[in-house]
Amino acid sequence: MPLFTLELKIALNKSLDNFDITLIDLAGNPPLNILFASSEATPLIKTGGLADVAGSLPAALRTSGHDCRLVLPAYPQAMEHADDLQQVAELDIPGYLGKVRLLSGFSGPHGVPLYLVDAPYFFDREGNPYLTPEGYNWEDNANRFGLFCKTIVEIGLNNARLDWKPDLVHANDWQTGLVPALLSRHTDRPATVFTIHNLAYQGLFDLETFDHLHLPAELWSPEGLEFHSQLSFIKGGIAFADRITTVSPTYAEEVQTPAFGYGLEGLLQHRSHNFSGILNGIDYHEWDPASDPNTAAPFTADSFEKKAENKLALQQEFGLPEDEHIQLFGYIGRLVEQKGVDLILQILPGIMDSGAQVVLLGSGNPELEQALKKISSKYHSRVGVYIGYDEGLAHRIEAGCDCFLMPSRFEPCGLNQIYSLRYGTIPIVRRTGGLADTVVDVNPHTLADGSATGFLFDNADGAGLWGAVERAIDFYHRPEVEWCILATTGMRQDLSWETSAKHYLDLYQDAIISPFSPSV
Ligand code: ADP
Ligand code: GLC
Repeated sequence: MPLFTLELKIALNKSLDNFDITLIDLAGNPPLNILFASSEATPLIKTGGLADVAGSLPAALRTSGHDCRLVLPAYPQAMEHADDLQQVAELDIPGYLGKVRLLSGFSGPHGVPLYLVDAPYFFDREGNPYLTPEGYNWEDNANRFGLFCKTIVEIGLNNARLDWKPDLVHANDWQTGLVPALLSRHTDRPATVFTIHNLAYQGLFDLETFDHLHLPAELWSPEGLEFHSQLSFIKGGIAFADRITTVSPTYAEEVQTPAFGYGLEGLLQHRSHNFSGILNGIDYHEWDPASDPNTAAPFTADSFEKKAENKLALQQEFGLPEDEHIQLFGYIGRLVEQKGVDLILQILPGIMDSGAQVVLLGSGNPELEQALKKISSKYHSRVGVYIGYDEGLAHRIEAGCDCFLMPSRFEPCGLNQIYSLRYGTIPIVRRTGGLADTVVDVNPHTLADGSATGFLFDNADGAGLWGAVERAIDFYHRPEVEWCILATTGMRQDLSWETSAKHYLDLYQDAIISPFSPSV
């Protein structure tokens, strides 16, 4: 529910009997109907940061007085966690045998209105949204997310005959990439914004799949969805959306270079006037050290000393020696090349020599999982490893550690370093993407002006990471008050969605006022 009512503006025209009545929000904009399309969202279903964003940005937009609604596939977990579900439409979507049911309900503690696309043949499956329980891509992912996109288009054009029609569809990542492309074929259409959360995942399929999806033939061209003779879902967003964003200003710059652009840098440069980076915020309700039900002891910047109780509890949980004076490093994340977990493994002997402890939580690449298990048995009294996905443990690691390791090779935004800042856990991060935009490096100048919040390094190798970790180890052995100042500087930052939601709203207005006309 919006926290405040809309201001009523009455503009008086020339004669007194002629009134224009316009509803505006506190920023002076009319309230918008926004359909936020995502393949995952907390608390319905989550594999990574996209779910955190889709679970919290719509709520922040609603707080600003706009009617933002979420649309997701009706996976079993999503159906289970949604509230008050009821069928609101039945649709015939080409390529799907049988009717697609559209369910409406609410999601999460903020009660965000939700649509679920119920196509059981595609979505009623065990496993995660993209992978089989054995960890392979679902073979029919193009059909699954193609159907999801087509259904979003039907909602966008109000062919589903709901009592609600979006002014704008905000699509996210390749799974919703076809939406801007398909909507661009219509004149009376909602505006579109497409957000790239990770350019490494593009949704590439063969020409046969393009034919099978019955997409408009003219979209098969290098200006359209074709990418080196393949069908690219993500190009549907990048080449056709009225506005494109990514999740940090630095990543927006990086993806326009060959090193980060995966071959799409030229197209992104071409669209640079309509492309910007907006930093993710975090959900202050979910990630609040003062009231986090997952942790042993609540604390704030003013009661920072209580954080030590969370460290002792975490050491106990991992069976490590319990001592609040031992420096504790943490890692949480998908075990994939992007995250640079292999660099942590390279420098582990150095961390062990310093006397510190390390806890790691993650799942993903089987070789990395094996490597982590191996080091936890080698250093069993100093390293704790949990292979799997555990939301509560992620909160306890943020609350209990002194430092958080995030040596990502690239990082569009990254949320764990932001959670770390909020929990007084000093981030040690590579200077890339959103990590560079959210952490201020410790040096004499930033310490003097009180802006330092963490340790950054440049080179994506063991020596680079070790340089930053060594500085953090040295800093830990300085007077305790200095550590406390560093940690609480991070805790006092405004990391909420408020500022970023305003940027999105400005962009939405802009997209509605001056839409983009694609060349195909
Ligand atoms: P990405 O989206 O690239 O995975 P982010 O840092 O943006 O990276 O977000 C990752 C999110 O997933 C965070 O909320 C993090 O806590 C969560 N997460 C990742 N792996 C795990 C895990 N094994 N257990 C619990 N939470 C996890
Ligand atoms: C992606 C990125 C991550 C970002 C998240 C949410 O998964 O890898 O950096 O924080 O999306 O935008």
